[in-house]
Formats: sequence, structure tokens, C-alpha cells
Amino acid sequence: MAAFGSLFMPEMAISWFDGSSWSESQVVSSDSIQLHPGAHVLHYSSTCFEGLKAFRHADGSIKIFRMDQNIARFAQSAELLALPRIDAAQTTRMITEIVARFADEVPAPPGSMYIRPTHFGTEPAIGKAAVPSLTSCQYVLLSPVGDYFAGGDKALRLLIDDQGMRCPPHMGMVKSGGNYAGALRPIMKARAEAQADQVLFCPGGDVQETGAANFLLIDGDEIITKALDESFLHGVTRDSILTLARDRGMKVSERALSIDELLERAAKPGCEAALSGTAAVLAPVGTLIYHGKEYPVGNGGVGATTVKLRQALNDIQWGKAEDRHGWLTSI
Ligand SMILES: Cc1ncc(COP(=O)(O)O)c(C=O)c1O
Repeated sequence: MAAFGSLFMPEMAISWFDGSSWSESQVVSSDSIQLHPGAHVLHYSSTCFEGLKAFRHADGSIKIFRMDQNIARFAQSAELLALPRIDAAQTTRMITEIVARFADEVPAPPGSMYIRPTHFGTEPAIGKAAVPSLTSCQYVLLSPVGDYFAGGDKALRLLIDDQGMRCPPHMGMVKSGGNYAGALRPIMKARAEAQADQVLFCPGGDVQETGAANFLLIDGDEIITKALDESFLHGVTRDSILTLARDRGMKVSERALSIDELLERAAKPGCEAALSGTAAVLAPVGTLIYHGKEYPVGNGGVGATTVKLRQALNDIQWGKAEDRHGWLTSI
């Protein structure tokens, strides 16, 4: 299977905002778009995107997971970036229609169809550094993806960074390319210098999130994770895992977690940590690296509760367990 997100369906759904209304959406070839070199997005990063998945069930039906949540976050990102407002009903139609068009290509479990709605400012105006783009474009691109854990379920190594930030605090809830570009160098440095897989951003000692996933600490019967505020991305997977944990009688504590408390709890033999996100669902964290020292989380391996919660979520996505929360949309 090709690397995650590197293979695309040949067509995508697209719509253009001309300053007053969105065009009727069209299905076009996904290999190119035409943009003016002065387009606002290319200079001032007026862009946001989403990531969600469609799954194939054993009866052949195709279901999209929590699409309403991703569209709500997409609309919020556009608003916070001063991009034209999206029409949520139209974006919903664009997603369902393009997934239906490529329904036969949706991989069976453990694969899925990754869906990437994208929105960006198109106005040719390089003098508008401090003025929003009046025009924009949104498209929905599809990428079939395989088993994230194909190489085995490996516990990740996270470098704790208490100095930098993933993005400015007021941009955390915005799923925008600029946030990812800004986090690249710290992540590359952590890979090169500490053989870390990811950076756990903890500005001022406050445990926040990694470059592309939320962080959950699982201490026995309790899950501890940062309470929602505007400084980090409100993951749909985070919310889903916390809901399933509550359903199972676990205690969910959404509150501030300091590096000191994290390291203290991680030292307990049964402690677990995990990263939640659409791509990996719930990936185990085995080692924390802080100020040059390595701290295993619990036994340093793959946690049993992490695997159990991931399985519970996968079972709903794959149609093997009842969708009690109404998370799946049929196409
Ligand atoms: C910065 C960041 N945090 C958290 C997440 C997890 O969000 P979700 O569970 O909605 O995929 C992502 C992934 O999209 C992300 O990029």
C-alpha cells in the first residue's frame, strides 16, 4: 500500500466562491487546479482543511464517520481565518456525492477512504496581507488508505517540548496549513536529535497536543486530557474515545495536566498514554523524552486499555458494534 495520503481518486468535487455566492459543485479531475500566482493563499496562508474517513461494512454499505463534526470544525476554521463562510449543506453534499461516486474504491477494513475537504483564498491580491480574500475555493479530495498499524503496533517515542509552541494560542482550534508548517522544524529536530516520533508540545509546562494528534493519559480507570480551549485542535477522535471510555464506566478528567504530573503518573507500572487522531485512531505512547532523559510510560509498551478503546471505536466504524451514538452517515 502507498504511503498514507499519497494515492488519490482521479476526480474530486469542487466549488468556487465569487465574492457573493458558491458555484454549483462540480466533479473535476483531481490532478490539478488553476490558480493565479498572486492568489491570497499562496502568500498569506488563507487555507484550512479537514480529515475524516469513510468505511466499508461487511454488507457492502459505505458509512462516513462523524461528518457533521468535521464540517462544523471546517466552518469554524474558515470563520477564524476570515475566509468566506462555507455552506455546510453544500459541503455535506460534496462529500457524500464524491464518496458515493468512488464507493467501489473504498478499501475494506482495516483500510478506509480518507476524505480531505480543503478551502483556500483565491483572490489575486498580493497587497492584502492584512485583508481577507474575497474569493475562495473548496474541494473534496479522496485518498484510499491502508492499515496504519501494518508494521505492527509500535509504542511511540514523544519528545516533550516545554519551550516552543505548535502554533500561536489563538490559532489552535484552526485546522490550517500554516500551523503544520510552523511545527515542522521542531519535529524534524526531535527526530534527528532524540529519535522521537513526535513532539508533545507543552508550552509553559502545560501538556497540550502533538503535531497532528491529541494526547491522552490513561491511568488505571481514569483518562486525563487537556480541557478544550482555543489553544489546540478539538479532535473528533478525542471526543469519540472519551465518549466510549465514559460508556465503559471510566472516569474522564478534562483538565490541565502539567509535565510534572505526567511524568509522575507515567512512572506507575500500569500507566498508559496514547495519541488520538483520524489517521491512527489511538496510537500507544511508550516513551517520553524530557531534558535528555527517557521516561517509559508504564511498562513502555502497548497498553491494554489503549488497544481496547481503539478496538471499540474501530468496531463501530467497521459496523461490528452498534452505532449507539449515531456517528455513521450512510451514503
Ligand atoms: C494538530 C492536531 N491535533 C489533533 C488532531 C486529531 O483530530 P481528529 O481526531 O479530529 O482527527 C489532528 C488531526 O487531524 C491534528 O492535526
